Amino acid sequence: MSATSKKMGRTSVPELRARKGKDPIVCLTAYTAPMAQRLDEHCDLLLVGDSLGMVVYGMESTLAVTVDMMVNHGKAVMRGSKNACVVVDLPFGSYQESKEQAFRTASHILAETGCAAVKLEGGAELAETIEFLTMRGVPVMAHIGLMPQQVNTMGGFKSQGRDEETARKTLADAKAVAKAGAFSVVVEGTVEPVARQITEAIDIPTIGIGASVACDGQVLVTEDILGLFSDFTPKFVKRYANLGDAVSEAAGQYADEVRTRQFPTDEHCFGLAKKGKLRAV
Ligand code: KIV
Repeated sequence: MSATSKKMGRTSVPELRARKGKDPIVCLTAYTAPMAQRLDEHCDLLLVGDSLGMVVYGMESTLAVTVDMMVNHGKAVMRGSKNACVVVDLPFGSYQESKEQAFRTASHILAETGCAAVKLEGGAELAETIEFLTMRGVPVMAHIGLMPQQVNTMGGFKSQGRDEETARKTLADAKAVAKAGAFSVVVEGTVEPVARQITEAIDIPTIGIGASVACDGQVLVTEDILGLFSDFTPKFVKRYANLGDAVSEAAGQYADEVRTRQFPTDEHCFGLAKKGKLRAV
């Protein structure tokens, strides 16, 4: 939660929408209840991103993530948090076919998890879908610029806006999703001048990831900033802790102590035998 907006109860979609141009919106990804518990007091927004396919399940991309996975992780994050607004990603293949399919998936995720909104990747081509959802009570966060679900058509994870064509497309996408009723938009992997132009051009908050400080808020993948995922680290990630190393060290120490019978000691045991008798615990 931001320094200037301490309050009880979950941050709502309209409250986030109203933060346009004000103090920056803080967002991190969360996939489990214990992590959500830790992040909740610091974040306005917790995103149950389909990046979980890569950083939790070890997949090579997000394409094989399923609706059931998103529902289960969405439920866990809702259980672990009480302040942040929780947004759940619509996974690849669960919304692109038609606006009706998108509504069925989104309403299922909202009903099952109790989250506040869904996020979908896409710009102008999904404007009709975004309008269809928002008009029917489903708040939508859009996601433009680098879209990981389009890794195959984009030819890899490439930053956007370096050339005239992608700069113009990304700006047009931003305007289209804002006009269609999205309450905010993630702008990923987009060069600073374009991210700045987008943020100035639309009246909904932009949440940047690799899109500069010009955005109205920032999001990063928690496993990246904690050093829990190190298969690759995008340029835009800042590492705030090295928990991966801490895990290896702790597991190594445990393994040594088990092998040398230093663990468990008496303090970790029940009913120790003393002089041939069972001792009460
Ligand atoms: O899937 C995800 O976690 C995301 C964020 C990185 C924005 O879309």
